[in-house]
Amino acid sequence: MAHLTISAGFILLICLQAVSSTKLVCYFTSWSQYRTGDGNYTTGNIDPNLCTHLIYAFSVINSSNQLSTFHCDEENLYKSFNAVKSRNPELKTLLAVGGASFGTSRFSLMASSSASRQVFIQSTIAFLRQHGFDGLDLDWEYPGSRGSPPQDKQRFTLLCKEFLAAFEKEAADTNRPRLLLTAAVAAGKSFIDNGYEIAEVTKYLDFIFVMTYDFYGAWYSFTGHNSPLYTRAGLFGDHVFLNTDYAMKYWRDQGAPSEKLLVGFPTYGRTFRLSTAATGVGAPANGPGSAGLYTKEAGILAYHEVCTFLNGATTHWIEEQKVPYAVKGNEWVGFDNKQSFEIKAQYVKDNQYGGAFVWSLDMDDFTGRACGEGSNPLISHLRSLLVADSTTTPPATTLATTVTTNQPSTTTTSATTTTARVTPAITTNRPSTTTSATTTTAKVTTAVTTNQPSTTTSATTTTAKVTTAVTTNQPSTTTTSATTTTTKATTTASGGEFSCVGMPDGNYVNPNDSSNFYQCVNGNTFVQGCPGGLVYKTSCNCCDWP
Ligand SMILES: *[C@@H]1O[C@H](CO)[C@@H](O)[C@H](O)[C@H]1NC(C)=O
Ligand SMILES: *[C@@H]1O[C@H](CO)[C@@H](O)[C@H](O)[C@H]1NC(C)=O
Ligand SMILES: *[C@@H]1O[C@H](CO)[C@@H](O)[C@H](O)[C@H]1NC(C)=O
Repeated sequence: MAHLTISAGFILLICLQAVSSTKLVCYFTSWSQYRTGDGNYTTGNIDPNLCTHLIYAFSVINSSNQLSTFHCDEENLYKSFNAVKSRNPELKTLLAVGGASFGTSRFSLMASSSASRQVFIQSTIAFLRQHGFDGLDLDWEYPGSRGSPPQDKQRFTLLCKEFLAAFEKEAADTNRPRLLLTAAVAAGKSFIDNGYEIAEVTKYLDFIFVMTYDFYGAWYSFTGHNSPLYTRAGLFGDHVFLNTDYAMKYWRDQGAPSEKLLVGFPTYGRTFRLSTAATGVGAPANGPGSAGLYTKEAGILAYHEVCTFLNGATTHWIEEQKVPYAVKGNEWVGFDNKQSFEIKAQYVKDNQYGGAFVWSLDMDDFTGRACGEGSNPLISHLRSLLVADSTTTPPATTLATTVTTNQPSTTTTSATTTTARVTPAITTNRPSTTTSATTTTAKVTTAVTTNQPSTTTSATTTTAKVTTAVTTNQPSTTTTSATTTTTKATTTASGGEFSCVGMPDGNYVNPNDSSNFYQCVNGNTFVQGCPGGLVYKTSCNCCDWP
């Protein structure tokens, strides 16, 4: 009895300590190993002491509703990825399933009955244990949007609830630390509204990764920053939602525990081609900037490519939004640097969020050769600001889970509860097309600019029209919070349809689904997804309004 009491007190103490421990979660992308030269990033490039958790992007759900590899020859990469833990025993690894380009149909099908959910859940447990992962990251983009029916909002909650129950049971049955369950979730207001029963679903997730990037990109007809911390003067309508602070508070204020919410930190910028002599934020633009030497997609530059771009460019700071942009000729890039990471890290601390997650490892200057700021300058800086002072204490999740499993059954209840509170949840905020019928009247349509998304409803259209009339450069009211995610793109369900074998390197449109495109690298096929509502166009080698 006395012994039990002491144990319980001990657990509580550990868990309280764990609450203050900040997470730094980093995504690894399987396709960056096919980039050439200094752009080639593979498991051998991973610094085992940089992040507290690593996530492998992506795996898929196959036609029998089971978790499966994207490429059939991926087991070796899983092996070398998880082997990184031998160099840092406190490091945890998760496997992400889905991604922007994976779409929603396999998720919807799997989630549609308790029997098929159970098939997926049980296959996931077997798969994660077989390959040595410590958890699963659900990257369903998004429940209730992009073709997923409205009832998927409730089904996503059920899926998470049943996942957690199965993970707990497996841990108890096998006396192993419980597998972690996280989700990457939308940052766009309408995607959030359509997709998540926030207060309920966050109970079952250890961390929630709010994808606070891709707020602006070349699909708009004016420049805007990829990942602004705050809004700015001159933005109206739904545009005021398109920033990190709004998205984080939207999740928190609807019942997501702050300590489970992680803020997204992009190691890349989004580019525009300026169409007039104006060069500021909000200046007219008519397409993406040139593709980067390594990432090869118009509209995006990895931080290591941004550094090259900065040579000969003028760099500016958007004071209201706390992020930088740079201009060279008619090209414009909104990116993050050490300074913006520092301010955002302070924001994480001030609001007591659970930490930061980074999309993605391969886009920081991992060699240190492009920026001259040492290797992994952005992520190491983030680590020094968020994690460094807690390095003496082991990461929360490790402790909590370990403790739980070892405790005698009498204490389980309280231990489990605490664990659940402690562990952060991961969510993703992919933006969906919002439509706030702002002003309105019925005079819609008419002057809608060519760049406006057709996917939106008439309400949207109206909005767009209204705005245009207001100012030429600022479509303020616009509509879609296309938060998107090109970056998080993944591959499709299974090869077979389109193959890059024998094809020149480059991007190819998917005739069956223009929201995706195929990226061919050295004969390897990757499916990449466009941000919410956008489609891939060969003419610009970029994602644009349909
Ligand atoms: C990337 O680096 C790995 C490890 O050094 C190497 O095996 C692979 O061939 C490289 N890939 C390319 C496309 O250069
Ligand atoms: C689906 O994946 C599972 C586990 O990876 C595998 O055993 C099964 O054969 C796959 N089914 C199909 C139809 O590919
Ligand atoms: C498009 O869909 C059809 C029918 O499912 C399929 O036969 C074809 O291979 C697909 N094409 C591509 C490029 O995915």
